[in-house]
Amino acid sequence: MRIFKKSLLAVTTVALLSVGVQAEGDAAKGKKVYGKCKACHSFDAKARKMGPTFAGILGRKAGSVEGYRYSKAFQQTDFTWDEEKLADFMLAPKKMVKGNKMPFGGLRKPQDIENLIAFLKSKAE
Ligand code: HEC
Repeated sequence: MRIFKKSLLAVTTVALLSVGVQAEGDAAKGKKVYGKCKACHSFDAKARKMGPTFAGILGRKAGSVEGYRYSKAFQQTDFTWDEEKLADFMLAPKKMVKGNKMPFGGLRKPQDIENLIAFLKSKAE
């Protein structure tokens, strides 16, 4: 009985670990997370929404959409959006770019962020 319990524990641990390894973002779930952004962000480069377009966001310089009126805070940024920067921003937008005007508090769940980034990547392909 003891041995059985031990091996059951081992199997569970292995199962959990492999879930951990597979914790790459899921684009389909990320599309749902994007539902929280889409009132203000679209993938249409010409759309006039409250926030800048997400078209080409990965690999784009922050604060660089032509014709979009960014806050001073964003005009002064000097970095390019990659997965890491997006994850940082989504976790704490107010902290990462101090004084920016995005009226959205960010995402609390790391899994939501991974899924969202997978979705953004799928749109970039
Ligand atoms: C209520 C409107 C609103 C919502 C909801 C919103 N944003 Fe924004 N977002 C903005 C505005 C406005 C800016 C421009 C901020 C500035 O200029 O300071 C912005 C800027 C950004 C930028 C910088 C883009 C660039 O061109 O450098 C990113 C990235 C971003 N938002 C991601 C997101 C994500 C991801 C979500 C959803 C999880 C989201 N936002 C939800 C309004 C919003």
